[in-house]
Amino acid sequence: MIKPIGSDELQPRFVYDPERHHQLTQEAESLPSVMVSSQAAANAVMMGASYFSPLEGFMNVADAVSVAETMRMTDGRFFPVPVLCLLESDDAIRGSRRIALRDPNVEGNPILAVMDVEAIEEVSDEQMALMTEKVYRTNDSEHPGVKTFNSQGRIALSGPIQVLNFSYFQNDFPDTFRTAVEIRHEIQERGWNKVVAFQTRNPMHRAHEELCKMAMDAVGGDGVVVHMLLGKLKPGDIPAPVRDAAIRKMAELYFPPNTVMITGYGFDMLYAGPREAVLHAYFRQNMGATHFIVGRDHAGVGDYYGAFDAQTIFDEEVPAGVLDIEIFRADHTAYSKKLERVVMMCDAPDHTKEDFVLLSGTKVREMLGRGEAPPAEFSRPEVAQILMDYYQSIQ
Ligand code: ADX
Repeated sequence: MIKPIGSDELQPRFVYDPERHHQLTQEAESLPSVMVSSQAAANAVMMGASYFSPLEGFMNVADAVSVAETMRMTDGRFFPVPVLCLLESDDAIRGSRRIALRDPNVEGNPILAVMDVEAIEEVSDEQMALMTEKVYRTNDSEHPGVKTFNSQGRIALSGPIQVLNFSYFQNDFPDTFRTAVEIRHEIQERGWNKVVAFQTRNPMHRAHEELCKMAMDAVGGDGVVVHMLLGKLKPGDIPAPVRDAAIRKMAELYFPPNTVMITGYGFDMLYAGPREAVLHAYFRQNMGATHFIVGRDHAGVGDYYGAFDAQTIFDEEVPAGVLDIEIFRADHTAYSKKLERVVMMCDAPDHTKEDFVLLSGTKVREMLGRGEAPPAEFSRPEVAQILMDYYQSIQ
């Protein structure tokens, strides 16, 4: 099986031993505690779930800046994006070596993790700007990822963490949320060797479905792991339970049995386009995938990134030899009326734009809101029905 990043085995930050878990939970209740940002909580969940293995905890400022600039920490270890715990104030925990991190997303703000504090530093405006410029390729405060990043405080708390729960993800998505440990285990149990991972934050339309099938064919895949984002999105994006239902329906009706695993991970969308694609590849290798699909405008938003920047970054910026997972690069994919099937446009080079069934996200949302199904060339009717029901329910 493909090895995790940087070590032979995953290095979980979740406390699996029940006795140790019980002891640490009790100890945590008496520790000074601080409520973290949603972004920091999502990072803690990703570390707990072993997706960010072998990262042990939140980065200090020097590591975060170095990662933003070079995708390497100061000791040379590869990581695609800064993993920071940024606070407004450290008043509640000043002087404490061991503290508890509270979850902002769950009622009552339960303890999410225990941290051994190594440093508390202030991040300068220049350092914040440098990080956003490198990671998001813009400092525009209208960019949703930049906005969220900058909305956090400027006090960076760093040190290793031990995670005690997986926040609301495990409660709200018991059938879909999985840790990297669980996915590796399931891949092994199924006996899959070549495993294609598919990132998504959308319900799967025909293009998404066909991309998975094309990738499986091209690499001789045994199965595809649809791995959907279950964390925060921007207003207007489709909520996870609706996406989950739509994807399950599509897999059930349109894929051969036992070839798809439907899973999800607890992380907020960064909208960092190319950099996020590298992070996506990182944690798909950790969960045991051998191939990862990167298509058009992967993890993008608005016009901030070129349509294929999330592919070229793997050639131009990712340090050589750090990733074993292979990137399956997909061209813009759509239904061709002439060919009567969904194709990558590069496979139909002489076709004009009019030959393809192309609909913008806005147009699709409008149609669904009116209770009108997009054409079957764009969306499977059973998927469209689930989405129409949702859009009508929010009107
Ligand atoms: S993402 O933000 O999670 O990347 P989305 O769920 O829409 O967004 O896309 C999932 C994957 O499918 C990404 O790799 C994306 O590039 C790819 N993709 C989506 N639609 C198309 C399309 N029409 N043509 C090519 N690739 C696509």
